[in-house]
Amino acid sequence: MLTGKHIVLGVTGGIAAYKACEVVSRLKKLGAGVDVIMTENATKLVAPLTFETLSCRPVCVDTFSRTESWDVKHISLAQKADLFLVAPATANLMAKLAHGIADDMLSTTLLATKAPILLAPAMNTGMWTAEATQANLRTLQSRGVHTVGPGTGFLACGDSGAGRMSEPAEIVKKVQELLCAKRDLEGLRVLVTAGPTVERIDPVRYLTNDSSGKMGLAIAKAAIDRGAEVTVLLGNVHLAPPPSANVVKVQSTQDLYDAMMAHCDRQDVIIQAAAPADFRVKDIAPEKIKKQDGAPMVLELIENPDIAKAVGQRKQPGQTLVGFAAETENLLENAEKKLGKKNLDLIVANDVSQEGAGFGVDTNIVTLLTHTGLESLPLMSKQDVAHRILDKVLEIRNV
Ligand code: PMT
Repeated sequence: MLTGKHIVLGVTGGIAAYKACEVVSRLKKLGAGVDVIMTENATKLVAPLTFETLSCRPVCVDTFSRTESWDVKHISLAQKADLFLVAPATANLMAKLAHGIADDMLSTTLLATKAPILLAPAMNTGMWTAEATQANLRTLQSRGVHTVGPGTGFLACGDSGAGRMSEPAEIVKKVQELLCAKRDLEGLRVLVTAGPTVERIDPVRYLTNDSSGKMGLAIAKAAIDRGAEVTVLLGNVHLAPPPSANVVKVQSTQDLYDAMMAHCDRQDVIIQAAAPADFRVKDIAPEKIKKQDGAPMVLELIENPDIAKAVGQRKQPGQTLVGFAAETENLLENAEKKLGKKNLDLIVANDVSQEGAGFGVDTNIVTLLTHTGLESLPLMSKQDVAHRILDKVLEIRNV
């Protein structure tokens, strides 16, 4: 239920605006208060009276209309919102929000709000896949804006492809997810690995990779929000871990292996999002290695332990094991091999060569692979990916 929650719904001028009527109706039935703001273009597709009747509130369109009360409407609505939903969100609205343009009631109120924002994009496939729209999407997601959809299918313009607004039921489910923090991991111990490891060459040099720790830390935060007791084995990152996590800092893959072996047996769920170095230098030089007049520098590398495989070999009854597969080719084939080889229940296949996915960025594009099937997720924030992984973990545990 959404009793006591207030949702501001922005409706922009896309043909999917008619579906926003059902969104209002569903939100009201769940007990939410809803204020609707329409753009001028939206009013050409659906009459404001329809939304007024469904929301039992006057609809705002014009920033300067003085029909109701003394307050500054766009600011009061921005402050009143527990969640700001825009459905449909056109390419134009997304561009304005990404660039801070506030030239009508909806964009002004959106810019002023501190509430979480959820966009349900809807547009022609060409507009959705346009580089400008995708860049705006990445900007918005990196600022924490949530998205639902778009789906793929037949579009009003006659095309078929990505750009179809999600169905009202799906949009409302996402609103509920965002507003009613689930505590569905209460009582579970979750261990997450995050970030890169570093392998010393000499006292001033090391080998490492581009992992920032964002993916693993997003999972740790999501698990804490959902009530789990969380341990993070954290590599060499600059980001702060969630305050209530039990954090063990590690440097090398051997350190990560040791920490894992010390903690893994008592965990209910282990999620390995770290990028441990597969190789280490055989003989670490005790002093800084000097240049040798142009002679090639040769480092002998030896293989590090495979931590996920070791955890898989000592898997405890009732434990759920999740690994990641960072791939640049044959994504699903390679991920599936790792799922079996490391005795995992779920592998998150991560094509790190795609824009907006993998190392360093705030978003990701992944496929969740289990022994019974796969689910490909669109580009979304690492926070949203984290929740989808945790949803899947619960699904596996409840079978
Ligand atoms: O940290 P970010 O900047 O947010 O980037 C996120 C990420 C790209 C690092 C993350 O999403 C990711 O894909 N992590 C896995 C990276 C990796 O090491 O992939 P892999 O395919 O080489 O390894 C497969 C699995 O085995 C992983 O779960 C890994 O943690 C684990 N592994 C790898 C090497 C090793 N020696 N021991 C392991 O346990």
